[in-house]
Amino acid sequence: MNTLKNKIALITGASSGIGEATASEFAKLGADLILTARRIDKIQNLAQQLEKEYAIKVLALQLDVQDHANIEKVIGGLTGTWQNIDILVNNAGLALSSDFIQDATVSNWDTMIDTNIKGLLYVTHAVLPTMIKRKVGHIVNISSMAGIEHYPRGNVYSATKHAVRAISKSLRLDLLGQNIRVSDIAPGAVNTEFSTVRWNDKQKADNFYSTFTPLTAEDMADAITYCVTRKPHVNVETIAIYPTEQASANHICANGVPTAGMFPTDKK
Ligand SMILES: NC(=O)c1ccc[n+]([C@@H]2O[C@H](COP(=O)([O-])OP(=O)(O)OC[C@H]3O[C@@H](n4cnc5c(N)ncnc54)[C@H](OP(=O)(O)O)[C@@H]3O)[C@@H](O)[C@H]2O)c1
Repeated sequence: MNTLKNKIALITGASSGIGEATASEFAKLGADLILTARRIDKIQNLAQQLEKEYAIKVLALQLDVQDHANIEKVIGGLTGTWQNIDILVNNAGLALSSDFIQDATVSNWDTMIDTNIKGLLYVTHAVLPTMIKRKVGHIVNISSMAGIEHYPRGNVYSATKHAVRAISKSLRLDLLGQNIRVSDIAPGAVNTEFSTVRWNDKQKADNFYSTFTPLTAEDMADAITYCVTRKPHVNVETIAIYPTEQASANHICANGVPTAGMFPTDKK
């Protein structure tokens, strides 16, 4: 049976969606968890619930992955066995808006780049020294099908996720010989808070997801768990997953009709 007993996993963006579902899945398998996000109340509640349900230890730490100094302070300040992080899931990330480049609000680009690329690098940089010292570790980066393909108005989000995939490949090269695995998970459309955050409009997000059967956060947690429960000599390079009703980063079967244009409800 798969087990994560005696392992410590740090998950960024554990306050909702894929991160939250992964925390639950890891807890079921006995891992002790360091849950991080900006919304501390959400991860504290989740920590309490998982500790009670699965008799594991959970640390809930408020962390904005854009804040390099604080990441160094918080992760550098871990004490005792909490320093021995076995698994890092770099999941925190977001898309903001779906504008054409020529119409974009430039501050949205900054936030996506600072979170999806720089944030992932900062957390990885803070966690790696102990992994290297212990010669053990598994880093799972959450990229996207948008990091493999492109779609109209995906521009900068897509670029950040291409960067995540480039970082995963580079990490595997730079860490060769250190016994640290690096896996990349590339989801298609998953029904989480992602689209509500993207459009700042829950109704629009709900309408989008209602036109087809998207993936769930639990589907992605299942794939992440698959990666981290392989035998130590097995490193899953990439898992790319679409919903059955999605055929590219830009094609879904909306209301039963194959449709080009990921956002058919968006009239822009
Ligand atoms: N849903 C999809 O269709 C989809 C598809 C492909 C890839 N992905 C990727 O999957 C990952 C998880 O997204 P999701 O679908 O689960 O969306 P979600 O439900 O919106 O979750 C995003 C998580 O990221 C955290 N986060 C955002 N900015 C942060 C920051 N500056 N510092 C720390 N945490 C931050 C959020 O926590 P706080 O707000 O509490 O900080 C939240 O826990 C993202 O990297 C996303 O790009 C999603």
